[in-house]
Amino acid sequence: RKEKKMREGSHVIVLPFPGQGHITPLSQFSKRLASKGLKPTLILVSDKPTPPYKIDNDSITVFPISNGFQEGEDPLQDLDDYMDRVETSIKKRLPELIKDMKLSGSTPKALVYDSTMPWLLDVAHDHGLRGAAFFTQPWLVSIIYYHVFKGTFSVPSTKYGHSTLASFPSFPMLNANDLPSFLCESSSYPNILRIVVDQLSNIERVDIVLCNTFDKLEEKLLKWVKSMWPVLNIGPTLPSMYLDKRLSEDKNYGFSLFTAKSTECIEWLNSKQPSSVVYVSFGSLVILNEDQMMELATGLKQSGCFFLWVVRETETDKIPKHYVEEIGEKGLIVSWSPQLEVLAHESVGSFLTHCGWNSTLEGLSLGVPMIGMPHWTDQPTNAKFVEDVWKVGVRVKAEADGFVRKEEIVRCVGEVMEGEKGKEIRKNAEKWKVLAREAVSEGGSSDKSIDEFVSMVC
Ligand code: UDX
Repeated sequence: RKEKKMREGSHVIVLPFPGQGHITPLSQFSKRLASKGLKPTLILVSDKPTPPYKIDNDSITVFPISNGFQEGEDPLQDLDDYMDRVETSIKKRLPELIKDMKLSGSTPKALVYDSTMPWLLDVAHDHGLRGAAFFTQPWLVSIIYYHVFKGTFSVPSTKYGHSTLASFPSFPMLNANDLPSFLCESSSYPNILRIVVDQLSNIERVDIVLCNTFDKLEEKLLKWVKSMWPVLNIGPTLPSMYLDKRLSEDKNYGFSLFTAKSTECIEWLNSKQPSSVVYVSFGSLVILNEDQMMELATGLKQSGCFFLWVVRETETDKIPKHYVEEIGEKGLIVSWSPQLEVLAHESVGSFLTHCGWNSTLEGLSLGVPMIGMPHWTDQPTNAKFVEDVWKVGVRVKAEADGFVRKEEIVRCVGEVMEGEKGKEIRKNAEKWKVLAREAVSEGGSSDKSIDEFVSMVC
């Protein structure tokens, strides 16, 4: 009890990178910290910062700060400029904030920062805080980036150039197209490649390394990373209500940059038979070209299954003409969905996903068989996990130029929803769902890691 008393009210600052796939896991982690008695301040970098406000029964303070752009400027024009401005803005505002906190008698103990902004470690240390890097991708991906950073891992020059490439402890051989995309196409997005590899640039000096995964998910690799760095796996950071009904009644999942039309999706799903619907979503960033959208649309229609498809507002122009009338009751297209509610719905039988790490963890934790259609960054590697390591889904086979044909969509949907393989996949999905829940339940590996984090920072 003495220990609990000591940590009660201990202040930590949490700072995600401004993107849906980062804000969601770090804000969920803040909630976990609050449930353990800490007092998190969540800093959100935003183009329209509002005054600070409280969430989660007043246990978390949200502190929006500017991304450094003026109204009317387009932050998406140039990634390097964007990163520079975000860095400048944080480096100006964060020290002021820490100073105010100290003056008010609530000195923060640690800065939990997104690993894509490694320079925040020095900001933390300069102000006497411990630095905890938070990784939003699996260990295998981070290890690959680490070796690239060290220059101890050479990659082929093209995605489809060479076959067998690398093997990591107890992991199937990785082909070139299983690797994080920018490695093989380094000339296509040099600045993103630099950002992802730089995540590992100062890992040796980080005080605590947090990762949104759980021990059993990458058991063998974990041995290696734990021997190198002070690693704590604290995931999956799904809201507790989806994992353990006793823990929380909280329905507020992270901070969506979009507003989900919750009732429309759920009402539509309510009218369907159990496990009859394919849920299709490519996260918050992936952009498919017009031909690929057309092919996917046709594939979904030809699969004969019901489908709920998230097409972001900026992408709707690419939906074929008259498509909505043609599919009728077979499909529902929405611009954003309450993804967890959807995945937890009994009518959903599979998840056609880009394999963003959050989506992958969500599908896995809710026991939904997956069809991986990875696009870039860590997604190909995540898809490899889905198909070959956990065996909870399949991955579509793309043509040499990356294009995925409608026949392939039909084949994969059929295999997961109806085929013999589907039965095996469902069995495995059920197994992993239980393991994910165990990890975050009281006394589970991730729950213990969060306790350890709390003891370390207090
Ligand atoms: C990206 C990368 O893909 C990911 O691997 C990286 O580690 C973080 O940034 P993103 O592409 O947006 O993220 O995908 P994902 O990681 O799957 O995150 C998307 C989040 O948005 C998920 O939590 C998902 O539940 C949510 N979402 C998506 C919705 O709530 N509704 C939707 O309609 C679609």
